[in-house]
Amino acid sequence: MKTTSKIKEIRDFLSVENIGEIALVPTMGFLHSGHLKLVETAKKHGDTVVVSIFVNPLQFGPDEDFDKYPRNLKRDLDILRESGADFVFHPEVAEMYPSDLELDISLNSMADVLDGVKRPGHFEGVVTVVNKLFNIIKPHYVTFGEKDRQQLMIVQKMIEDFNHDIEILVVKTEREDTGLAKSSRNTNLSEQELLEAPHIYESLQLGNELIQNGERNVAEIVAQINVHINENTSGTMDDLQILSYPDLDAMTHVDSDVIIFIAVQFEKARLIDNLRVKVND
Ligand code: PAJ
Repeated sequence: MKTTSKIKEIRDFLSVENIGEIALVPTMGFLHSGHLKLVETAKKHGDTVVVSIFVNPLQFGPDEDFDKYPRNLKRDLDILRESGADFVFHPEVAEMYPSDLELDISLNSMADVLDGVKRPGHFEGVVTVVNKLFNIIKPHYVTFGEKDRQQLMIVQKMIEDFNHDIEILVVKTEREDTGLAKSSRNTNLSEQELLEAPHIYESLQLGNELIQNGERNVAEIVAQINVHINENTSGTMDDLQILSYPDLDAMTHVDSDVIIFIAVQFEKARLIDNLRVKVND
């Protein structure tokens, strides 16, 4: 496995003839088994797997956890050596952003909901860095996880809108045995919060059960999920929405497949999760 923090060097590595089709796995590091599922998927499709590790300052708001975001490059590289990744690109901030950007990518309606509203500028930062990574690595495939479903949908649309010739590989959410979605941010939970956090997924399943049992009133489902989180965790509900699938339109009555999106704020970590619910009538 070859590693570099330099754009020129990763381009040189990838410009040799026998590289074949490249599959890119963009990450912010502090890797867990969810990320490794992405590497596995990338290996199945590409001849060469490139993992990027970059905590992208552009996608963090001024009051968010950029400084507190967990980092451990040595550990990440050890894990990736085992995973069979071929190249790791781990630039410093100055390598990716040597000067202020003059051009912005702005988003329309897809960022009018959920984290687009809760984290102003977040998705603009994501698409900017992903666009840069596409131009540096020139992948044929790129992996994204369903855990960050809005991000995945926005990147999919960016690929279409900007004619990137890249196939997106979608990976299901990897969970702890308790149901808690794997996340680098879980390490910023206290011991007590770690015991409470599985209730996030339990509350999504509660929503699923209610819908499967015939409840169609969105306000009622939202209320019950809120009660579940309040009664079982010390976290506060930061966002909870039931939106249509796949358009993410707001609804008061569940009459088609939906996604339940949830964001719970703990003391030092904001955790997100989502569940797609199929409706049969
Ligand atoms: P990061 O949070 O490190 O996630 C990298 C990729 O791993 C994303 O596609 C994310 O959806 C996926 N992922 C995270 N947790 C997962 C889980 N439990 N199961 C399956 N996949 C999971 O998302 C980012 O980084 C950044 O925004 C990035 C795309 C790298 C741009 O900076």
